Amino acid sequence: MCLASFQKKATVKSIPMSADPPNESNIKPTDLRGILKYVPMFRDHVFVLAVDGSLVAHENFQNVLLDIAVLRSLNIKVVLVHGIGHQLQALAEQKQIDITDAHGELKTDSATLELATEAAAMVCLQVMQGLTRNGLRCTTCNGVRSKEVGVVKGVDQMSSGAVDKLDEVLFNKLLDANTIPVITPIAFNREGTSLRINSDLLAAELASKLSASKLIFLTTQAGLRIDDQPLTNLPVAELEAILQTAPEKLPERLRSKAQHAVKAILAGTPRAHILDGRLFGALLNEIFDKVGIGTMVYSNDYQSIRRATLADAHAIYNITQNGVRSESLRERPLESVEANIADYLVYEIDGSLVACVHLQSYEAEKMIEVGSVYVQPFYQNKGVGRKMVEFACAEAKERGCRRVIAMTTQASKFFSKVCGFSEGNMEDLPEKRRQESLQNGRNSKVLYLDL
Ligand SMILES: CC(C)(COP(=O)(O)OP(=O)(O)OC[C@H]1O[C@@H](n2cnc3c(N)ncnc32)[C@H](O)[C@@H]1OP(=O)(O)O)[C@@H](O)C(=O)NCCC(=O)NCCS
Repeated sequence: MCLASFQKKATVKSIPMSADPPNESNIKPTDLRGILKYVPMFRDHVFVLAVDGSLVAHENFQNVLLDIAVLRSLNIKVVLVHGIGHQLQALAEQKQIDITDAHGELKTDSATLELATEAAAMVCLQVMQGLTRNGLRCTTCNGVRSKEVGVVKGVDQMSSGAVDKLDEVLFNKLLDANTIPVITPIAFNREGTSLRINSDLLAAELASKLSASKLIFLTTQAGLRIDDQPLTNLPVAELEAILQTAPEKLPERLRSKAQHAVKAILAGTPRAHILDGRLFGALLNEIFDKVGIGTMVYSNDYQSIRRATLADAHAIYNITQNGVRSESLRERPLESVEANIADYLVYEIDGSLVACVHLQSYEAEKMIEVGSVYVQPFYQNKGVGRKMVEFACAEAKERGCRRVIAMTTQASKFFSKVCGFSEGNMEDLPEKRRQESLQNGRNSKVLYLDL
């Protein structure tokens, strides 16, 4: 499928399965130029998709398959792990058999394993058929070796399994042969006995083993929310803290995904996403739109901060223009940004520049001024500004500076309350800056932090 046909499909409506998904009209189709920017960035990267059984049964799954076809057309290597909870529950109801657990999180008795095996075969065929209908090569394989979970807190987990070994060589060969490995949550142990594995866990383990760039959970629920507020993007430490202190605040069925997202990130996967797969284009919007529509969890706090290069100059100029218009930043022409590009730090999320800061050095006085601190509106109030300033202060310290200064018209409280700066006056500035400030008429407040 080509990108243009993805764009055309943007009007197709999806029918909600249980609870209504958020309003589809909020989602804008990602524009082609936007997507093209990511082509070299994600080429040959591995994305592990963990697709809930309930989504495979949902009408919008056909569109998810189209989204996967777009990823493949961009040479992104896709591994698809599917769940079976929804189908297992349906089979149990239909056959009136009591099951021990539908989601592979608790114990699995033999009746449940039998139904789970039937459900897995069914879902796997459905997924393979869908991929094939979209012109995608795919296969199942025996690349996961399981082991018994055993007894947990005194309870025998019976036929519930954990991952014993993943056949990395096999998976990489399939991926190199342009083939999508489709992984079911039933795997054999050393002796060839079938065990039921939780598909989120399986996906997280595969993501770290295959050095995936992304682990993407596709569900039939909205992304993570706390107190009715969506968690759009958050550092892994924050999600870890929520899971430790207030797990009940997260929707029950998303807790396992949150836990495995954390696990995968701590094991080296840079990003994990939790998405409502019922939304048309959710997968592409999340990956190719800088705002995204689900929850993105990312690795460590400062990993997203880097020194700017000339290729960032236009983006820095463009985003800071918003600050210039509101008079919170002073004008710096594009030529000035380009000429001083080495003095900028930028905060990047998935290839999009979301914030910047300029460091002006006054060597004689051993001072550095942090200026042009700007965070794109969507990312404000998420700690990005504080991290940028903290990072700049750490760098100033490393360079042997004794003081960091900031001149601001509208954010003095941000510097004092959030970043720990003190309010000062003209005397606290280097002579050159003092003269300039007296002449430019901005009447900025002086803040400083002694290192
Ligand atoms: C000021 C700015 C850089 C802060 O970045 P941010 O990522 O939104 O801030 P953080 O998330 O790290 O910190 C949030 C805290 O800062 C406070 N804050 C943010 N902007 C503020 C402002 N202009 N004035 C006072 N406090 C502010 C928030 O109220 C919040 O406080 P809380 O933690 O007590 O609730 C950002 O809002 C921005 O780009 N503003 C426009 C440009 C600007 O004014 N730049 C400074 C010129 S040097």
